[in-house]
Amino acid sequence: MPAYTLQVNGQTRTVDVDSDTPLLYVLRDDLGLHGPKFGCGLGQCGACTVLFNGAATRSCVLPVSSVGDAKVTTLEGLGTPEHPHPVQAAFIAEQAAQCGYCINGMVMTSVGLLSQTAKPTETQIRDALAGNLCRCGTHTRIIKAVQRAAGTPVKEA
Ligand code: FES
Ligand code: FES
Repeated sequence: MPAYTLQVNGQTRTVDVDSDTPLLYVLRDDLGLHGPKFGCGLGQCGACTVLFNGAATRSCVLPVSSVGDAKVTTLEGLGTPEHPHPVQAAFIAEQAAQCGYCINGMVMTSVGLLSQTAKPTETQIRDALAGNLCRCGTHTRIIKAVQRAAGTPVKEA
């Protein structure tokens, strides 16, 4: 199997995998990074989202052979329990999770949005997260969390 050298969470990691292996599988199975979740495996739910050179990207449909020297950031690369990323802190403050399965994708997509648009409108937040599915129905709290992280007014429920 070919060897691929990846830049993940600021570290250089080398894996021996088939060229068409999805990045998600490499992150979870070879590198032990379980922040990105397997949801649909078809690029349709957002659970597997990572940052790819800072942009929210679905890792389940990205072959490892396409990664090259791009900077990949997973949930583990954002913050720690002691020092969470501001978006993670906002999700905690707003209690924006029930089962939590979608939250990796919600957080990573939100970080990607805020890096491009520091003060998004509610419509921009909704548009950015429209492709991230949450079976628990926590969208309202997730939107409030992104507003909190952005420092934009949080609507009262
Ligand atoms: S698991 Fe990647 S989009 Fe659903
Ligand atoms: S919190 Fe359960 S899927 Fe979103």
